[in-house]
Order: sequence, then C-alpha cells, then structure tokens
Amino acid sequence: MDSSKKIQIPVAYRASILHFLSDPGAGNGASATEFFEDGILLIENGLVAELGPADKLVNKLPKDIPVKDYTGKLIIPGLIDAHIHYPQTDMIASHGEQLLEWLNKYTFPTEGKFEDQEYAEEVAAFFIDELLRNGITTALVLATVHPGSVDAIFAASMARNMRMLAGKVMMDRNAPEYLLDTPESSFHESKALLEKWHKVDRLLYAITPRFAPTSTDEQLKQAANLAKEYTDAYIHTHVAENKKEVKWVAELFPWSRSYLDVYDHFGLLRERSVYAHCIHLDEQDRKRMAQTGAAAAFCPTSNTFLGSGLFNCVGALDQDIRVAVATDVGAGTSFGMLQTLSEAYKVQQLIGQKLSPLRALFLATLGNARALYLDDRIGNFLPGKEADFIVLNDEATPLIKRRMAVTDKIEEKIFIYIMLGDDRVVDSTYIMGECAYRAI
Ligand code: GUN
Ligand code: ZN
Repeated sequence: MDSSKKIQIPVAYRASILHFLSDPGAGNGASATEFFEDGILLIENGLVAELGPADKLVNKLPKDIPVKDYTGKLIIPGLIDAHIHYPQTDMIASHGEQLLEWLNKYTFPTEGKFEDQEYAEEVAAFFIDELLRNGITTALVLATVHPGSVDAIFAASMARNMRMLAGKVMMDRNAPEYLLDTPESSFHESKALLEKWHKVDRLLYAITPRFAPTSTDEQLKQAANLAKEYTDAYIHTHVAENKKEVKWVAELFPWSRSYLDVYDHFGLLRERSVYAHCIHLDEQDRKRMAQTGAAAAFCPTSNTFLGSGLFNCVGALDQDIRVAVATDVGAGTSFGMLQTLSEAYKVQQLIGQKLSPLRALFLATLGNARALYLDDRIGNFLPGKEADFIVLNDEATPLIKRRMAVTDKIEEKIFIYIMLGDDRVVDSTYIMGECAYRAI
C-alpha cells in the first residue's frame, strides 16, 4: 500500500478538534492552542487542506465532498514516540533489575533472536499494529545489531505508509559475542541501510550507537564519520540514564568531562540527534544540549520501572532544550503515550514541577515533531501538513465516560484522557488521510 502516490478524494472530518501552534507552557497562553468544539478538518491527497469551525466551513465545502461525522469525539494530531526499541516487544515487563543487569539478563538474549529474519518480520508487524492501536503514527525506533532487523521495521512501516525513523544498533564491545559488530562493519552496514532507506517514501535513517559503554572510541568515530557524510540523517543513542552506568562511562573514557562529553567529543551532538534519558546531566551538559539543538527524550515509565531517576522535564524546557517524550519500550511499561504522559506528570510532581495537561499533549504531538525537526511535516493541522491524526472516544470505559460528563473544559478532558486513558480511548488512527486502525 502506498497511499502517498494514490490520489485521494477530499474528505472532511467533523468532530471536536484540538492541536497546537506552539508550546502552551512557554508563556504563549491561549495563542498556542487551537480548539474547535465543532470543527472541520479537510484532507486532500493525504495532506491537511483546511481546519476551522464547522459553522464557517460546512457551507463552503463543495457539495460532493463526503463528510465523515465524528461528532462527540475528539480529533488530535497523531501521537509521536521519540524513543522506542521494537525488538524489546517480547520482553516488556521483565521483573526485578536496574539498567545494566536488565540489559544482560533480558535485553541482549532477546535481541539475539533477531538473527532470524522471519522472527524480526513477525515482531515488526506486531509492533506497528501496536503503535497504531495506541494512536502513534510516528516513532524513532532502535532495531538490533542485525541489518535485517532494520529492513523488517522499515518494510513494515512502508507497508502502512508511516513516517518512521529507525536504525541499526552499533555495538562492538561489552555485550555477548553474538551481538557484536566492528567499527568497520557497523559503518558499512549502517551506510548501506542509510542509502537503502533514508528519505524513501516517509522513512528516515538514524545512526544508532547503542550507548557509549558498548562502543569503542573507534566505533564512535565511525558513527561520527557517517553523520558528517549524511548531515540530514539522525543520530540516536542513550545517555546518563543510570548512576552505575555514568560511573562506568567515566572509567571507560577517563579523558571525558562527563558522559555527554563523550558524544560531544566525537561530534555526535547536533541538530537531529536524540539522546534518551538525560537524567544525570550537569549544568554544562544541559547548556550543550540547548546550544547544539540536540533533543533529550524523557522516558518516564522506563525511568521509574528501572529505578533510573527523575528527569526534570519542565526545567529542561525552561532551559530551551528540545525535550521529547518517549515510551522506551521494553524498559518502558506501555506502548501508550497517554500512560507515558500520566507517568511524566507524576514524575514532575515528585520533583515539585507542574506539567499542565495541554503542555503534556503538546509534547507528544508538535513538541516531539519539533524535537525531531519534523514540525514542517507533522505534529499539527496547519495546511500542507501530512494528515496523520487520531480520533479519541471519551466514552471508552464506564469510568472515563462518567468522569468526562462532569466537565466540558477541554483542558480537564485532556487531563482525564492522560490519567485514565489507554489504547481503549483510541477510536481510529489515520495515516496520510487513510484509516489505518479502527477499534472493533
Ligand atoms: N541503554 C543502552 N541500551 C538500552 C536499552 O535497550 N534500554 C534502555 N532503557 N537503556 C539502554
Ligand atoms: Zn532506550
């Protein structure tokens, strides 16, 4: 299926519609958020053509345009997950360990299975379906060290016409032999995959050294060489997640000023680079994140699950760091961005920060699009944007229905979706104007 090349007849969607023009938490107040209680979203050839109040637009629409009526439901932009491991689908909810032990006990053996291409393709297909069920239309994904695992996730994404970012994990030390590549093989394999998939249809390649402890200096240099050659490719890795990990990095790279400095030293901090976790950064590190335009991916369910720590999301936003939100499945405990935002809210509470409902939803849509430098394509409903959107049902469960009935304020409704919602509230998921998932 390749609907990007198929001419679609225009369709108007009628519902309550919410999207963001900027960060509602950054002092922009009301102008950051656009909400139409009774709105029309007009889609043409997979792109947003127009958005506005139904009373103004309905009479302007040509007579023969079909109107899909979602009155009573809420349309928002497709959710974006800025950091997730598709190969860890089968090990989500593995008990009892913190990061380094969890990697050795559960993660590496699971990732070893991706040598089997048939298994990789089966997991990739399930994973994409799970994203769609949760209203996630774009994700930045780690594959495994096996090039075939990247082919599997890109092929499954392309079959759904999804905007997806992914890359082969590079790791040449401190992991089982069966998962190791070399600086040279990782360079050549990543380059071949980049040439094969980057910017094909809606796909984008991410150069993916797993994290500093599993790469030698030579491999990080090779990753940087690739990044220099392909300046519009992404860089994707982990940093400062766990205190034991931070100490280990200081031993492995004794010349470094900090963990983040290892990546900085090799030239891996730049626009279109995404650093998962960023919990244990110091002030100088945070300044470098802001200066270089790198993004920090906040993974709250993972950070609490592995006992990694409490990321100061609001503080990082205040410092002009591009903050993204992410599930980090399989250390993350849910594919759902709503549950992820719920945990994000609770983590901010624990450190005395307040994450407002609208700012939280902004982060999962336009905020993540900005963190990924994709806000010219996705993240809201400005005309010309790719028409990835979802329809939410505020009567999905008896409790949600009952709680929603007590308010008609959109901000409160969003908070109820975040605190009580999960995949059951996702009525439909649309990719480039085509319905890719519908509940029941
Ligand atoms: N650091 C290096 N690899 C991983 C991983 O697979 N998950 C998490 N949460 N952190 C990592
Ligand atoms: Zn991760």
